[in-house]
Amino acid sequence: MEYLVMLPGPTNVPNRVMNAMLAPIINHRGDDFRQLYRSLVEKIKMTFQTQNDVILLTTSGTGAVEASVVNLIKKGDKAIVPVCGEFGSRLADLIDSWGGKAIRVTAPYGENPQYDKIEEVLDQNKDTKAIYAVYNETSTGTTIRYMDKIGQLCSSHGAFFVADAVSILGGDELPVDKWNIDICVTASQKGLAAPPGISPISISDRAKKYILSNPPSILYLNLKRYFKYYEDSFETPFTPALSLFYAFNEALDIVLEEGLDKRIGRHRTCAEAFYSGLNALGLPPFAVEEARSNVVIAAKYIDGMDDKKFRTLLAKDFRVLIAGGFGELKGKVFRIGSMGEVNKYHVTRTLASIISAMNMLGLKVNSEAASNAFEKISGIA
Ligand SMILES: Cc1ncc(COP(=O)(O)O)c(C=O)c1O
Repeated sequence: MEYLVMLPGPTNVPNRVMNAMLAPIINHRGDDFRQLYRSLVEKIKMTFQTQNDVILLTTSGTGAVEASVVNLIKKGDKAIVPVCGEFGSRLADLIDSWGGKAIRVTAPYGENPQYDKIEEVLDQNKDTKAIYAVYNETSTGTTIRYMDKIGQLCSSHGAFFVADAVSILGGDELPVDKWNIDICVTASQKGLAAPPGISPISISDRAKKYILSNPPSILYLNLKRYFKYYEDSFETPFTPALSLFYAFNEALDIVLEEGLDKRIGRHRTCAEAFYSGLNALGLPPFAVEEARSNVVIAAKYIDGMDDKKFRTLLAKDFRVLIAGGFGELKGKVFRIGSMGEVNKYHVTRTLASIISAMNMLGLKVNSEAASNAFEKISGIA
């Protein structure tokens, strides 16, 4: 029996998208591919709400994150990075290891750094080249709610604004142009509900100009090559994952058919249902309220709830997959991906399975709490 994949990526992929991968292989240097690639670029631009160029990399999200660093950061360049989780921390380490100087603006996990602190640090470091922000910190279930302000700040200081939107595009607001995001990276396997393996990256004219005149001496993630191949012939410089491109095309059709506003609204409603349902079961959200994500729900374990036993029961007995915590949060939280196809069925089945697993572990869940949890979700579509 198939799993209900409630991981914070990869997530459930609709059959329509999986079936698209059965399309025969084509020449990636022929018109069929050029047409497919152009149409994909147009669709992802609509999803990013941008007029900027978008390149599709055949990599997981990390490939696009790495491309955003190695194409922009040179030795000694300063980059400010809000850090309140593992992905922010990893990004800052990557900048340092590439020769840049990451200036970390930290907050305890479960919170966002104060916006004022970022502004202050930029004032003290006027030669900062870029601010790199992880929009949705998947390891803690927090979302930065002042991305627009960082965009304005960067514009007024002439710094680049780079956003890691790997786990959020398709599930929450992300108007790339309105927020002045110079480089925005995402991945296929999360909010866009496609299989893993494609990572789109949008690049503003300003960033493109810089990248074209200062290309890094690397091969695969060298964005200058991608621009050249696209502009010369609507191709990619290296062999693209053709079957995944077909799947991604179908997944983006689904996103655009539903419409971004409706899709974002559905994610918000499902997240609210998860938070209030879990709360009613005595499993409090990990993140402070103002930072809570609408796509990754992180909740604290209570005494007697062993991470491995709990998630194994969910997977084996109920065929529901959720994630544990990692890094500092290992064993302390569990995380539910409420993204992509998520709807009432996903929320109800996940919560019902959690209640049963808690009962099986001898954790008393009173029936009033359980019925409260379901009352909370009865309003969702
Ligand atoms: C915020 C964020 N950045 C980067 C990544 C890395 O993506 P991938 O695992 O696709 O390489 C992830 C993956 O979960 C993520 O959530």
